[in-house]
Amino acid sequence: MSRERMLREMGLAPLWKLRAASAVSSLAAPTAVAPAAAERNAAIAAMDWEQLRQSVSGCSACGLCQARKQAVFGVGDEKPGWLFVGEGPGAEEDERGEPFVGQAGRLLDAMLAAIGLQRGEKVYIANAVKCRPPDNRTPEPSETAACRPYLERQIELLKPKLIVALGRPAAQTLLAREVKIADVRGKLFDHRGTPLIVTYHPAYLLRNLTEKAKSWEDLCFARRTMSEKVD
Ligand code: URA
Ligand code: SF4
Repeated sequence: MSRERMLREMGLAPLWKLRAASAVSSLAAPTAVAPAAAERNAAIAAMDWEQLRQSVSGCSACGLCQARKQAVFGVGDEKPGWLFVGEGPGAEEDERGEPFVGQAGRLLDAMLAAIGLQRGEKVYIANAVKCRPPDNRTPEPSETAACRPYLERQIELLKPKLIVALGRPAAQTLLAREVKIADVRGKLFDHRGTPLIVTYHPAYLLRNLTEKAKSWEDLCFARRTMSEKVD
């Protein structure tokens, strides 16, 4: 299939108006985990789905709990094959309690469709932070760090065959270091035994055709990886 046709199929031809791409943030230097945090991490690491859901919905481990309407846990096939990890809920997600249901979500659906995937079928969608950052700002490293045990537990319970990190906060959370997308896209990483591929966040794809094309390459790479290495 030609690149142009693929971009059309990804629904990326028209210019969508989305929130501005997130400002650059840096990851805090690794610090020793305080005893209380270690205890919380251990508790989360032992939770089943129901406990995890309840813990997230009542969580106040970071400041993002203050302005949220509700925490957005994640959604999809619980034996997924594919796990896509975004940044954090936006206004519509905060309202509806489901990830990627706003404009960025329509783009994500188009990206999924372009590689023959559909929301909910062999696909799980989650975010680096479960609560909406005010004014859709980029989550702070301290916030992604506070939320990370939930994502890690989701990954352990889901046992995906491949993880796709969408954008910088997701990539930094999963790789546990500061990265530039341009440096880490198109490569295969290992997340505790699970293949991990990084690409641009769908909201970022509106910028220009070059990035859309790169994101298409990344998705092809992910699809190839899934069929060659995993199936
Ligand atoms: N952007 C994200 O990263 N996640 C969502 O759930 C919605 C928009
Ligand atoms: Fe808790 Fe995560 Fe929400 Fe912060 S973003 S309050 S860590 S669920």
